[in-house]
Amino acid sequence: MTHPSVYPVTPEALQRTWLDNDAYLAMYQQSVEDPDGFWREHGQRLQWMRPYTQVRDTSFTLGNVHAHWFADGVLNASVNCLDRHLPEHANQVAYFWEGDSPDVQRTMTYRQLYEEVCRLANGMRQLGVGKGDRVTIYLPMIPEAAVAMLACARIGAVHSVVFAGFSPDALGSRIEDCGSKLVITADQGLRGARTTPLKDNTDLALGHLGKANPVEHVIVVKHVGQNIDEHAGRDIWYHDLLASQPGDCEPEPMNAEDPLFILYTSGSTGKPKGVLHTTGGYMVWAAMTHQYVFDYHPGDVYWCSADVGWVTGHSYIVYGPLANAATSVMFEGIPTYPSIKRIAQIIDKYRVNILYTAPTAIRALMAHGTAAVDGMDLSSLKVLGSVGEPINPEAWNWYHEQVGKSRCPIVDTWWQTETGGILITPLPGATALKPGSATRPFFSVRPAIVDNEGKMLDGACEGNLVLLGSWPGQMRTLFGDHERFEQTYFSTYPGMYFTGDGARRDEDGYYWLTGRVDDVLNVSGHRLGTAEIESCLVAHEAIAEAAVVGYPHDIKGQGIYVFVAPRVGVEPSEELTKAVREWVRRDISAIATPDLIQWTPGLPKTRSGKIMRRILRKIAANEHDSLGDITTLADPSVVEHLIEHRLNA
Ligand code: WTA
Repeated sequence: MTHPSVYPVTPEALQRTWLDNDAYLAMYQQSVEDPDGFWREHGQRLQWMRPYTQVRDTSFTLGNVHAHWFADGVLNASVNCLDRHLPEHANQVAYFWEGDSPDVQRTMTYRQLYEEVCRLANGMRQLGVGKGDRVTIYLPMIPEAAVAMLACARIGAVHSVVFAGFSPDALGSRIEDCGSKLVITADQGLRGARTTPLKDNTDLALGHLGKANPVEHVIVVKHVGQNIDEHAGRDIWYHDLLASQPGDCEPEPMNAEDPLFILYTSGSTGKPKGVLHTTGGYMVWAAMTHQYVFDYHPGDVYWCSADVGWVTGHSYIVYGPLANAATSVMFEGIPTYPSIKRIAQIIDKYRVNILYTAPTAIRALMAHGTAAVDGMDLSSLKVLGSVGEPINPEAWNWYHEQVGKSRCPIVDTWWQTETGGILITPLPGATALKPGSATRPFFSVRPAIVDNEGKMLDGACEGNLVLLGSWPGQMRTLFGDHERFEQTYFSTYPGMYFTGDGARRDEDGYYWLTGRVDDVLNVSGHRLGTAEIESCLVAHEAIAEAAVVGYPHDIKGQGIYVFVAPRVGVEPSEELTKAVREWVRRDISAIATPDLIQWTPGLPKTRSGKIMRRILRKIAANEHDSLGDITTLADPSVVEHLIEHRLNA
């Protein structure tokens, strides 16, 4: 069956929308021609304790990169998410929480959420945590995760959420890097009926840090009910701490540029980077994009299936929806448990109107034909969203037809941890859709495409995606390392923010993201640095050298292909391969587990000793015919050996 290449805005979407195409175009134009006037107006969507008079002071010039938005304004993010909704929305549901098992659920109204946040905030203050202190949150997808984030925001503490799938070492290095005083965790996590020992992992992480451990207290949510090793004086149960606290708490007045959170993400080199976001601009961006991109209207039920451990969870499960007084579904489990129909069941159960999920989830369902949706009632859906990686047209069409029943626009949203919120995206009632394209920029976003020399390309073209100016939601720095921030994002193409992504622009000015052009992998929508995995591999006693590349994978988008050279005297075996796989899984996380491990006597290197990843990528992708020039290699025969022993997925 052939599919159209363009889907015009539907009459239903147009009828419902906040913005039609003319409105989008007019607002976009104003947002780039007069950003000060534009944001002076739209910053007012928040409640300020002291209104801003300054709007924008930004520079992308190397050596002086900064972004200050609403700089003299004072506000509190938790007040914007909670207090200001109480007069009208106290009894409205903020979260329908759906547990891992379909029989377990909870609802939390805005009043309940407010009170619980206040109790935890008071408890944290009692433990000596205050403005500017860092708090690591290592929680599963339970309401307490949102409560913990908001409680930090309430007292001005800076949260660093670490995905609950990360290993003790990954957790420990993130705790150490930002010097957290407090960790908030749970006894265990639960996903697809499998448990993760979060508290044990925390103990291990802090134990490994030894003298470098900055943590004074660990708050533990009793979730699964497992016994824990209690460290007297350090550990405290969440329910015990909250029991004696009042349900009101004075919010900390925060400057717009005071930090709200740090979120670690993988880059092309070195250890994960602590991306820092501040309060005012981030909140404006999260709220405004959530409203317009998903065309959220009061009364809608909205479900973002991401994890709060990633930026999507920060902006589109917590801050954006709550700032808009939305009703959200929060889901603890996985799309395939207890059956492939789980997503459809949840949509039906809560009459979900807006679903925001990832291509990898769609492809996992699609692998079962139409079983995931057969006989299910999905008639409540109005808007569908996609995020995390390019969505291939087959998956787009399946999502559109099988989930959206050809009625619902799909917003393919491109953005990054660094950008704070969505930057390139369709708007449901404004944008004609092309499957596979993230389409057009959101307000004030000025994308451009440059060639490898940094020359800006015009019209329809393909190259590297850069951004020409600031927007309120952008990251401000890397925690504790402004120099690395400038080098990472602003030195490749001076004066521009380099995204690390490749993109094509078509004749209609639509953007098509083509994937990372650096050494960052995107596995099931999760970012992983090849350098991180390599440094873990070479720490194994059997391994002399390692190179990691991505290869096309039907469900995950990219799979992890590992080339390893054994140390002298080591004989590779199936057992050893298994052990290496387990080693990576334990050291980083299950997400980083290699799919394919190929042993090789050597790696292709230039004469100066640089590993030629370009060649390894081609071999992994089975594109041997286009290896390009290999004559610069120190030993070209390595390549033949690699091709001959190439592994098949
Ligand atoms: C990729 C996730 C194509 C991209 C919000 C980016 C996408 C990286 C899309 C950021 C999309 C995200 N189309 N690619 N709609 N959304 N990406 O920091 O490579 O986890 O640079 O943020 O994901 O991943 P991150």
